[in-house]
Amino acid sequence: MNVDIIRFSRHNDKYGKLVPIEAEDSVPFDIKRVYYIYDVDRDVRRGFHSHVELEQVLICVSGSVNILVKTPEEEKIIPLHDPQEGLYIGPMIWREMYEFSRDAVLLVLASDHYKVEDYIRDYSLYEELAKKYFLENKK
Ligand code: TYD
Repeated sequence: MNVDIIRFSRHNDKYGKLVPIEAEDSVPFDIKRVYYIYDVDRDVRRGFHSHVELEQVLICVSGSVNILVKTPEEEKIIPLHDPQEGLYIGPMIWREMYEFSRDAVLLVLASDHYKVEDYIRDYSLYEELAKKYFLENKK
């Protein structure tokens, strides 16, 4: 599955902790967009889509959240709670986000601008396209 945990370097000193993120170095793409999700109720489940080309890195900079990543063949649940850790999600991966803690802030780094046409929101369509994609790309 084209999903990976990235461990960022961290600078600790008596003043606190700092995690720098450099495009094309700490994350494997040029960052074109940043957004963050917060103030999410505990019972909310969101996401429910895949992207055709977009790559993203999800960082839970505060609190905790669970991320479900899925392909037609595999499914993983990745709990995020460490601001030093990023979850890389490549193209054609279905994702759902749930159990946001009250204080959760999920920061997302994206390889492209917001493009509605890059979203697949219908799971059966996703399955069909993903089977073809993984056959061709053997990932
Ligand atoms: P949405 O994609 O539904 O969130 P998720 O899939 O993570 O649950 O996005 C919520 C709203 O925000 C929707 O109206 C689209 C808008 N949006 C932007 O305008 N720009 C962005 O970069 C993103 C990610 C969403």
